[in-house]
Amino acid sequence: MKRVAILISGGGSNMLELVRSMTGDHPARPVLVASNDPSASGLAKAAALGVPVVAVDHRPYGRDRAAFEAALQAHIEAAHPDILCLAGFMRVLTPGFVSHFEGRMLNIHPSLLPRYPGLHTHQRAIDAGDTEAGCTVHEVTAELDAGPILGQARVPVLPDDTAESLAARVLVAEHRLYPAVLRRFAAEDLTPLIL
Ligand code: GAR
Repeated sequence: MKRVAILISGGGSNMLELVRSMTGDHPARPVLVASNDPSASGLAKAAALGVPVVAVDHRPYGRDRAAFEAALQAHIEAAHPDILCLAGFMRVLTPGFVSHFEGRMLNIHPSLLPRYPGLHTHQRAIDAGDTEAGCTVHEVTAELDAGPILGQARVPVLPDDTAESLAARVLVAEHRLYPAVLRRFAAEDLTPLIL
């Protein structure tokens, strides 16, 4: 059985879908949900499902990203995860942290990578006149939002879409895609999944 730790920063709806998916004949189980924000509402939701939770507030560390990551990494290592899932984790990670977990760290990003790495993905898709948007699950490498793609799901961009309405449609696709990719990844299937 593979052990999965999940990093969040906010509401954690993707995290909840991942946790709920890991039952029965699923080859993995959740062992930790960690947040850089102690007020992230996802923490209480994970705890309510019986998953151990921890918050490592990044703010007292100021610009010392490495010290924050060392504290976070200590909590993660204590849970002995085989797989680390970023699920709405909004801190950029240093190359040192990334290389430590490389090959076992996944992220979900709300665009069809390689289009729109970084922030404000939905507004950028609308501004570009795209007729299609979506989400990507990829392996995390040192370059932001650029690691090997493990799965993508597409949704239409509708004529009246705002960034908010498009984000809501993409989020529904994220909830289908991420659990499906995690299940395959835990079974050591790295072939890209297209939904
Ligand atoms: C999701 O849309 C996720 O793709 C995005 O944040 C949201 C988190 O929602 N992630 C990023 O933008 C990463 N750069 P959730 O907390 O409800 O899962």
